[in-house]
Amino acid sequence: MKHYTLKVLELRAETADTVTVVFKQPGLKKISYIAGQYLTLIFRINGRKYIRPYSFSSAPLVDTTLEVTIKRVPGGIVSNHIIDKLKVDDVVEVMQPMGDFTLQNTFINTNSHLVLWGAGSGITPLMSLAKYALHQGLVSHVTLVYGNRNTEAVIFSDKITVLQNQHKEHFSAWHFYTQPAIAINNPYVVQGRIDPARVLSVMKAEGDLNATVHYICGPEGLKESVKTALNDLKIDNDKIFSEEFEIVRNPEEFGDVVTSAVAIKKNGENITIEVVKGKSILEAGLDALLDLDYSCQTGSCLVCRGTLLKGQIKMIGLQSRPPELLENECLLCCSFPLTNAIEIAI
Ligand SMILES: Cc1cc2nc3c(=O)[nH]c(=O)nc-3n(C[C@H](O)[C@H](O)[C@H](O)COP(=O)(O)OP(=O)(O)OC[C@H]3O[C@@H](n4cnc5c(N)ncnc54)[C@H](O)[C@@H]3O)c2cc1C
Ligand code: FES
Repeated sequence: MKHYTLKVLELRAETADTVTVVFKQPGLKKISYIAGQYLTLIFRINGRKYIRPYSFSSAPLVDTTLEVTIKRVPGGIVSNHIIDKLKVDDVVEVMQPMGDFTLQNTFINTNSHLVLWGAGSGITPLMSLAKYALHQGLVSHVTLVYGNRNTEAVIFSDKITVLQNQHKEHFSAWHFYTQPAIAINNPYVVQGRIDPARVLSVMKAEGDLNATVHYICGPEGLKESVKTALNDLKIDNDKIFSEEFEIVRNPEEFGDVVTSAVAIKKNGENITIEVVKGKSILEAGLDALLDLDYSCQTGSCLVCRGTLLKGQIKMIGLQSRPPELLENECLLCCSFPLTNAIEIAI
């Protein structure tokens, strides 16, 4: 995994609790990325290393800088550190861009209609996709459907308006507000959550359903609402892509999980940690200050893969087992002990 250091050029406030970090592209080895991918930032805070992925809000060939946009999470270690402590000219260690929430699939062509569904900070990769698709003329139309509490919470409000002005024929934006301050007389501004009924009403206004390709980024409820409605409309699941910022685990899956001693073999060293029931092996290892590689913590980047040498584990929270994993491999961020005396090599 390649690492780089990037210099902060600008910190741009987007809303009261959201900031865009604008990084300068390195002079020599430029970082290349694909619209919709994410950048993994590494910080040392109070003597401990923290690693967090942030989707690019910039787009290649459109923006000359590398930009990520961070929303404050109450009590969140890294988001608060970035928003409160990071300064212009600071240097941040990052990993090479990763992620497959991109437009690289067989459904994207100049006849297709890209529909982007987002809420809150989920707008970040959608903004990158929208800018790139419109700038490159990749698709016939882009529709953004964006849910927020009220107008003050809308990230990139001005940039969405600029896209509307620049690409009048090819871009439309729907805004949904759960707590609007004033009634707005505009058919594209709707009061309420993006629920299945409202998804259906948006799709009714959006023309040929067969041409649509959907990208969803936001909380689990948004994803479920959009998928339910699109399935009712018989839109093929292959044309629906989603990005998770946080893994959702069903408590019922923890029934057979146990507290266990887990030996981790790395670089010829063998360190045993206690993994308390409910913590993933990755979380327990990081709490024990082991230097473990990871990024997404949602089971998609595969950076935390390990080989199970002894004992049994269960992976929880994955939609499906990634096909790249060998039979005896596991992802530490999603792995929970089922037996005592586990051994994993990384
Ligand atoms: C692929 C990917 C892309 C991402 N892109 C972005 C992005 O563009 N912008 C952005 O702001 N964040 C993004 N995130 C989320 C980001 O990586 C961090 O998880 C988030 O900033 C919280 O980190 P923290 O250290 O502040 O919180 P932590 O200290 O890790 O967590 C504190 C508490 O907040 C909860 N929590 C963690 N993440 C979230 C969340 N996203 N929303 C609500 N509660 C949460 C945790 O369960 C925990 O209880 C992305 C995540 C992934 C996996
Ligand atoms: S950290 Fe990404 S798969 Fe585990």
